[in-house]
Amino acid sequence: MENYIKKNIASLKPSSTLAINEKVKKLLNTGKKVFNFGFGQSPFPIPEKIVSVLKDNAHKKDYLPMQGLPQLREAISKYLLKRTGITYEKENIIITPGSKEAMLLMHIAFDGDIILPAPSWVSYQPQAQIALNKVHWIETSIDNNWFPTSKQLEEKIKKINKKNIILIINSPNNPSGSICNNFGQIAEIAKKNNINILSDEIYADINFKKNYESISKFYPEGTFISGGLSKWCGAGGWRLGFFAVPKNQSNFLKALKTLASESYSTVNTPLQFAAVEAYRGDYSDYLNKSKNILKSVGNYVYNNLKSNKVLINPPQGAFYLMPEFLNSKFKTSNDMCEDILYKTGVALLPGSDFGFKPNKMLARLSYTDFNGEIFLKNISTTKSLDDEVIKKYAPNVVEGTNKLVEWSKTL
Ligand SMILES: Cc1ncc(COP(=O)(O)O)c(C=O)c1O
Repeated sequence: MENYIKKNIASLKPSSTLAINEKVKKLLNTGKKVFNFGFGQSPFPIPEKIVSVLKDNAHKKDYLPMQGLPQLREAISKYLLKRTGITYEKENIIITPGSKEAMLLMHIAFDGDIILPAPSWVSYQPQAQIALNKVHWIETSIDNNWFPTSKQLEEKIKKINKKNIILIINSPNNPSGSICNNFGQIAEIAKKNNINILSDEIYADINFKKNYESISKFYPEGTFISGGLSKWCGAGGWRLGFFAVPKNQSNFLKALKTLASESYSTVNTPLQFAAVEAYRGDYSDYLNKSKNILKSVGNYVYNNLKSNKVLINPPQGAFYLMPEFLNSKFKTSNDMCEDILYKTGVALLPGSDFGFKPNKMLARLSYTDFNGEIFLKNISTTKSLDDEVIKKYAPNVVEGTNKLVEWSKTL
């Protein structure tokens, strides 16, 4: 058999995160110290109560309904109402093995084009490609906090000139760590042009502002929401996500349900019971402490790294920063990140992996290279942590930042 792989699949590149992890492994094997600022995983343990509910339900072996455990969908519906002010009925929520799978199903079901802001999470574009949905990029700038302006969005919609469009918005954002300030304006254009929005809210509970704002508040009838346990409760490997659609689009959910039933059937049973606890329980103490640690560590990196050679926004959520290195002599951000890795041991992901042109010297920096369990145990405050505490509990982040600062002085 020749050429038996579909063209759109054969042309997918291996994920950049995997590529950097390979390089990191090789360096570690040579005995070099590596500062893993390339990794996008929560450093904190899953709250014990949630783990114990998982254990208590480990014997449950029957398949659950394909759409997910009704109590879990009910709990997520309430959680969304509390967080966004909008009702997504439990009938319009589906439980998925991670929100990534939910998004893939969305792309497969959707017949239309996708608008992605650059920067965007690494998987949106490949997922669209798998489903043969055309992607249109909007390159954002630091001036608008790395989100599209309404003018950019309107121009793009006009240019695409198609009926069916989904815009994907992710705030707090991976990779920029920024929060969108112009939801209202974006929603207005989306509504006027009758396009859909997917609000990827996987980092919603790790935002450093007092109140989380969801774009669904401004455009409830056109906003899908995806989310899950991976980031806020440190359960990435558990693979529990959800996808919620507005009431008036329940036909879209029907299509997702069919795809779910023909692929993964349903998410594993014990996990769904544990997730009920995660969404019903009060984990505000755990979350406030986790956010305080992340915000303080992020601010430490921001304050030390920013200079006339490094342009960077303060951290606002998730666990990322996106520095731009000025006067760089490199052709591509990938070349730059390789140089940084080999000279300093600091692993970063290049901006080109997030939709930027390769000659933009941006990189994603994840400031999670510390033991979150020990850090959490040793702080009892939600007041900003001083440098001494950060040096004690996040020494790799401190040392890696110093190395990066030294490297940036050579620019
Ligand atoms: C922006 C963004 N969306 C979605 C996901 C997927 O999360 P999960 O499939 O674990 O729910 C990630 C994980 O890295 C992410 O960074």
